[in-house]
Amino acid sequence: MSFTIPPMAEPYKIKMVEPVKITTREFRENAAKEAGYNTFLLRSEDVYIDLLTDSGTNAMSEYQWAGIMLGDEAYAGSKNYYFLESAMKECFGYKHLVPAHQGRGAEHLVSKALIKQGQWVPGNMYFTTTRQHQELQGGHFVDVIVDAAHDPNNEDPFKGNVDLVKFEKLIKEKGAENIAYITIGVTVNLAGGQPVSMQNLREVGELAHKNNIKVILDATRAMENAYYIKTREKGYENKSVKEILREMCSYTDGATCSGKKDFHTNIGGFAACNDDDFAQNMRSNVVVYEGLQTYGGMAGRDMEAMARGMLEACEDHVMKHRIAQSEYLWNKLDKAGVPLVRPCGGHGVFVDAKAFYPQVPQEQYTAQALAIDIYIHSGVRSMERGIVSAGRDQETGKEHKPKLETVRLTIPRRVYTQSHFDVVADSIIDLYQQRDKGRGLKMVYEPKALRFFQARFEKL
Ligand code: F0G
Repeated sequence: MSFTIPPMAEPYKIKMVEPVKITTREFRENAAKEAGYNTFLLRSEDVYIDLLTDSGTNAMSEYQWAGIMLGDEAYAGSKNYYFLESAMKECFGYKHLVPAHQGRGAEHLVSKALIKQGQWVPGNMYFTTTRQHQELQGGHFVDVIVDAAHDPNNEDPFKGNVDLVKFEKLIKEKGAENIAYITIGVTVNLAGGQPVSMQNLREVGELAHKNNIKVILDATRAMENAYYIKTREKGYENKSVKEILREMCSYTDGATCSGKKDFHTNIGGFAACNDDDFAQNMRSNVVVYEGLQTYGGMAGRDMEAMARGMLEACEDHVMKHRIAQSEYLWNKLDKAGVPLVRPCGGHGVFVDAKAFYPQVPQEQYTAQALAIDIYIHSGVRSMERGIVSAGRDQETGKEHKPKLETVRLTIPRRVYTQSHFDVVADSIIDLYQQRDKGRGLKMVYEPKALRFFQARFEKL
């Protein structure tokens, strides 16, 4: 069964442009070396097409920019906060909103509120900042995603699903009282932007609640997930993204959310929940770590832009175009035989680096090497999502070795046109034709936490 969304012309026109720099290969070789072969350490102005991330890199609409001028920068009780609260209730349906400067700020508040030292925290695959905050609170992350998620060639339409057998086994083995909560990422970033089905969310909710375990949604790309449910799950084809999203949230107890993705904003985030005590706990910490409970580290204008972006992201055509753009790039690369995580995910195209560079072992940072080669070859910046991102086991100190060793070509929303994606595809196809030249890397500087952001490498 194919779920392909046909190519769709941009449902917007361009009002303001930002020039990009076209560089030579020699220039990029030097820039890559100076950046320690880490795409995070490149200067943005040295990048031609920036597919590092879809986080904070999106183009806001005129409605959002107009909202920026309505920023109420009062320290307390800004009107933009109240508008954000009402937009969150309309889209997600939770009772309490706790604003945060971005997603990881919200993860900090939730982890602090719910994790006791030594507790287990299951989730459908780790996410870097989420797991880091769980570990900082003394929690142990346990991956309970379906096995299909770890296989780039498995075509299951809902590879983000929680494996209920794994989750139930964990409850039996550790005891429900030793499980802090379960996190469900929708979509699952490191699995390749793969969605979770409504049926799975419902069943996870039932199993968790039967055992008195809270379900926390990582709602960072929840609108994308809702669109996948609309197009892939029976019974949802005639429901709106907003209706689907509300139903998704109804099976959960709360959420963390990075506002920098689906809402097209450059900064922002929030935590949300239904339980009064849980909200109270987060509100007592938000003032210590983020800012007052009515701004949480955001300016009033940022809250306004985020609220407006949230409402816009629930419009079905916005998500349709979003997914169609990813699929356009995915299809071009797939046709040329470039190995990819299948099926195409929401926020980007994930290249299977192990299959692209079979001669480079994972210990030589296959995806890191490919990401920097893509930059040198074409000026396109991507991101490693493999062994470097996975980091080390907190107890043994050994490197986690994820089955998926990928390079993420992440698609900022409304920023690039179809011809940019043609350039990206053509240059990666060209590199694939010379793939036998690929060499590995050696890590020469490794930071303690979230090492992928700042690690430095040398070419072998
Ligand atoms: N959860 C998910 C699924 C994310 O993808 C991110 C960020 C966060 C939480 C944290 O949010 O950045 O606002 O603090 N992902 C970005 C990325 C960084 O490039 O995938 P944040």
